[in-house]
Amino acid sequence: MISTVLVTGANRGLGLGFAGAYAEMGWKVIACCRQTSPELQALAQRHAALSIEPLDVANHATIDQLAARLQGQAIDVLLNNAGTYGRLGFAEGGVEHQAFGNTDYANWEQVLRVNLFGPMKMAETFIEHVARSEQKKIVTLSSMMGSMGLNTSGGMYAYRTSKAAVNMMMHSMGIDLAGRGIIAVAVHPGWARTDMGGPGAEIDPTESVEGMMAVIENLNADHLGQLTAYDGSVLPY
Ligand SMILES: NC(=O)c1ccc[n+]([C@@H]2O[C@H](COP(=O)([O-])OP(=O)(O)OC[C@H]3O[C@@H](n4cnc5c(N)ncnc54)[C@H](OP(=O)(O)O)[C@@H]3O)[C@@H](O)[C@H]2O)c1
Repeated sequence: MISTVLVTGANRGLGLGFAGAYAEMGWKVIACCRQTSPELQALAQRHAALSIEPLDVANHATIDQLAARLQGQAIDVLLNNAGTYGRLGFAEGGVEHQAFGNTDYANWEQVLRVNLFGPMKMAETFIEHVARSEQKKIVTLSSMMGSMGLNTSGGMYAYRTSKAAVNMMMHSMGIDLAGRGIIAVAVHPGWARTDMGGPGAEIDPTESVEGMMAVIENLNADHLGQLTAYDGSVLPY
């Protein structure tokens, strides 16, 4: 039986890496993005089982439309990868947008819409697709930036709170869906060299993606309520 993964934000970064790696493994890949990219188009040309679907995770109508198009299909791994830092740069006064005293609330709302409400809406909308699959996994990419235990530098309110909330959301989801045999967890990709991670990040996106795929492959009930990193280590919430 061929397994199916749905990846959000599949046009670049870690999402593109997931799409390519699962396609290479012979999976059916539903690669979702706001706008496609030459790299994703090339993958679709190489792999007949990879389809590109328009999806903005902050636009719930596009999520509902996608679910209707995929009605009846099983999704083994629902991979909530799409995410954003939001505005980070320095405002005119030289103050960072996410620093205390300079909160950009519209920016914060948008970060929560993408990073938090998006994965929740995806899970609620695709629950039956996942439930009818063999593997039954819902995975959301979180970040060590959302860990209170690891936060020693402060700041980054919008991004940090969105990922801290993702951890709690996936914790609750893991409890709520366990009875249906569904494993719902958050994973941390490491600090990877993507547009978000930047060129100075610690690891190559391939290492991050391959590590997370191994974590996802081996997920079991022991992982519920844990933030597992790409290398299998468990991080504090
Ligand atoms: N890289 C790291 O070091 C790192 C560390 C910790 C956690 N993470 C998490 O890992 C995930 C992937 O990060 P990345 O490094 O690959 O980031 P990235 O290179 O900046 O790519 C972000 C992806 O998310 C998509 N996206 C953003 N807003 C979206 C929306 N409203 N609807 C649909 N797609 C949207 C982007 O699509 P567009 O091209 O349309 O903008 C892009 O495909 C994120 O959740 C991030 O928070 C990354």
